[in-house]
Amino acid sequence: MLVVQGNQALDKALKYEQMDQHRGRPELDDCWRLLLAAAKLARDPAQMPNTDAAFMLTAEGQPRLTDSREQAWLHWQPDMGWSCGAHLRGPAREFVEFYLPLCQPLTSGCRVVAHLGQSLDGYIATHNGDAHHVTGADNIRHLHRMRALGDAVVVGAGTVASDDPKLTTRLVAGPHAVRVVLDPQARLGAGYRVFTDGVAPTLLCRQAGIGGAAPGQARLLEVAVNGAGFNLVSLLGGLARCGLRRLFIEGGGVTVSRFLSQGLLDRLQIAVAPVIIGGGRTGVSLPPSDAMTQALRPSARIYRMGADMLYDFDLANGRQATPPPAGLRRLI
Ligand SMILES: NC(=O)c1ccc[n+]([C@@H]2O[C@H](COP(=O)([O-])OP(=O)(O)OC[C@H]3O[C@@H](n4cnc5c(N)ncnc54)[C@H](OP(=O)(O)O)[C@@H]3O)[C@@H](O)[C@H]2O)c1
Repeated sequence: MLVVQGNQALDKALKYEQMDQHRGRPELDDCWRLLLAAAKLARDPAQMPNTDAAFMLTAEGQPRLTDSREQAWLHWQPDMGWSCGAHLRGPAREFVEFYLPLCQPLTSGCRVVAHLGQSLDGYIATHNGDAHHVTGADNIRHLHRMRALGDAVVVGAGTVASDDPKLTTRLVAGPHAVRVVLDPQARLGAGYRVFTDGVAPTLLCRQAGIGGAAPGQARLLEVAVNGAGFNLVSLLGGLARCGLRRLFIEGGGVTVSRFLSQGLLDRLQIAVAPVIIGGGRTGVSLPPSDAMTQALRPSARIYRMGADMLYDFDLANGRQATPPPAGLRRLI
């Protein structure tokens, strides 16, 4: 477990009833540093203790082992990974518990989490592709955190063409993820920022055999296709061979829907903003259900991010029609 030493600052933070009341204060920064450290350690479980252990975060923000279990923020168990220490309470605990599943070690395969920010009427952008300010600043900061916890942030060619995004973690502390762009037909020109800015590595995925040079500074990954575009299992295998196993699928709707329809998402996060666009680019799009009993209704946790509501769906256990748990968690 990670423990924060000299935790007067934390005690002060826990007096706040809602995490969003102390956004940006050092207390939240401590929680975030704790999570970054946990994620980093989990990438190399060989360096972790093979018995239950407790960690603390020093005043310099460095994790170190401690014998003081009372003050522990996080526990490490070799067979279970990370869990919250009893010392974490209130909004700090909510915050750490929310991101902790993304900091766990991977014993095999990939962990794939997707996110979409959409309007109340289900659109992720206007009809001509304007997706700025669909969701608010808190949700955008959350996106940057998700990028920082992943090995790669994945977007479709439509998102790069519309937004020319940077896909960096500039709003939070933490490493940049490798930027992965799905452009099977090589339709994107070389001038987009992910190909030219050099801020983080970019991997461009193209259909095998399509040819052509990689744009700008990007590296090329050739992926087999099937009737539904990329063979996504092959894609995940190719990314894993590049060391990219913790994947954050950031959009857009077509890209997320293809992962979802093929049962390849562990989590799907949909942030619903209090805005009605009236029409536009669709978020999730799946084959229609004839009856509500066929609808996908995974278990969900619900968080508030500023004015937006984030539904965090757990898809790892398959299509289970479990009712969502009662209650609302305020997060950021
Ligand atoms: N609000 C949000 O959360 C959010 C997030 C991201 C983007 N956006 C907005 O969403 C819009 C773009 O979304 P979109 O749904 O139109 O496009 P998109 O998902 O960004 O890109 C779709 C394209 O990427 C390629 N692609 C993706 N998955 C593939 C697969 N499995 N196999 C083969 N090719 C694959 C295909 O390119 P080809 O067509 O070349 O085959 C596909 O048409 C933009 O307006 C952007 O601003 C919103």
